[in-house]
Amino acid sequence: MPVLSIRNLNVTFKTENKAVKAVNNVSLDIEENDTIGIVGESGSGKSTLAMAILNLLPNSAKVDGEICYKHENLVGKSPEQLKYLRWTEVAVVFQKSMNALSPVHKIGNQLADVYLLHEKNATVEEAKTRIIELLKVVNLPERVYNLYPHELSGGMMQRVSIALGLIHNPEVLILDEATTALDVVTERQILEELKELEERLKITRIMITHDMSVVATACKKVAVMYAGHIVEVGLVEDVLSAPKHPYTKGLINSFASASNKNKDIHGIPGSLPDLSQEHKGCIFAPRCSISSDICFKEKPSNKMFDNNRTAACHMLGGD
Ligand SMILES: Nc1ncnc2c1ncn2[C@@H]1O[C@H](COP(=O)(O)OP(=O)(O)OP(=O)(O)O)[C@@H](O)[C@H]1O
Ligand SMILES: [Mg+2]
Repeated sequence: MPVLSIRNLNVTFKTENKAVKAVNNVSLDIEENDTIGIVGESGSGKSTLAMAILNLLPNSAKVDGEICYKHENLVGKSPEQLKYLRWTEVAVVFQKSMNALSPVHKIGNQLADVYLLHEKNATVEEAKTRIIELLKVVNLPERVYNLYPHELSGGMMQRVSIALGLIHNPEVLILDEATTALDVVTERQILEELKELEERLKITRIMITHDMSVVATACKKVAVMYAGHIVEVGLVEDVLSAPKHPYTKGLINSFASASNKNKDIHGIPGSLPDLSQEHKGCIFAPRCSISSDICFKEKPSNKMFDNNRTAACHMLGGD
């Protein structure tokens, strides 16, 4: 039974003179204790998909389809109705989460305030104990409790944001480019800590990134997103070693490999399509090097492969 089951999800941003379809008929199951990376180039709809889960989208967004969290459909619920889920069941950490902290209050006091918001019966002492425990969990020294945000490095601040995400023991942790701005060494260190942590705390992690190497090192599964569509889903080892969808292939070929200096890097020619236009056929066809007539006429359906792998491409055989 998946902890999160997304079915035929569409998100359209309505602006004055156009409608941008940022998420297009997305279906995805996320199992308990999964770690799934959602990867795709900038503008492919990753953040919109993440924000739709907790309805953190602006009013201009129209959402239809289903997002079931443990049997309960969250689509159509107001942010107020979803309040009880936020932090305690599903927590989100954004790249800019650290900017949400007040510069004039100490880290410890700010985290304690958030803790007391949901744990109304806890004493101030209990809150402090919990915060210090959390700081240890994300590998920060106890003294951080008494520091101001400006006294921390970017990596330390990002750890504080992750600690904040964990404050109410969520079942699902969504990290949206949460480690992207960090140097590679700190990023890897935080990812290693997260992996160890979620095994211990039984957390399901959704990791949104445009960096394939983050997915390779920190996730078990991957969903590849292109122009609002999920084009391929599978185990990281399967998808990265033998990508099926031409877009996944292109994305992997766009990354340098530290272990293979001779690897040629190829970008994907062209750019994302205009999401305010209707597209007949496969959304990737205009940029695809193996497209044929059918790709411009019919939408490809998902083909199934071993290990619950799926890819939506007319040119694939499927099992
Ligand atoms: N509030 C909004 N109003 C109108 N269009 C929007 C809004 N938010 C996002 N979009 C559009 O939706 C599409 C998907 O954006 P989204 O931020 O989800 O992409 P992303 O995959 O997270 O990109 P990135 O890797 O740059 O963070 C883009 O075309 C974007 O311009
Ligand atoms: Mg984004």
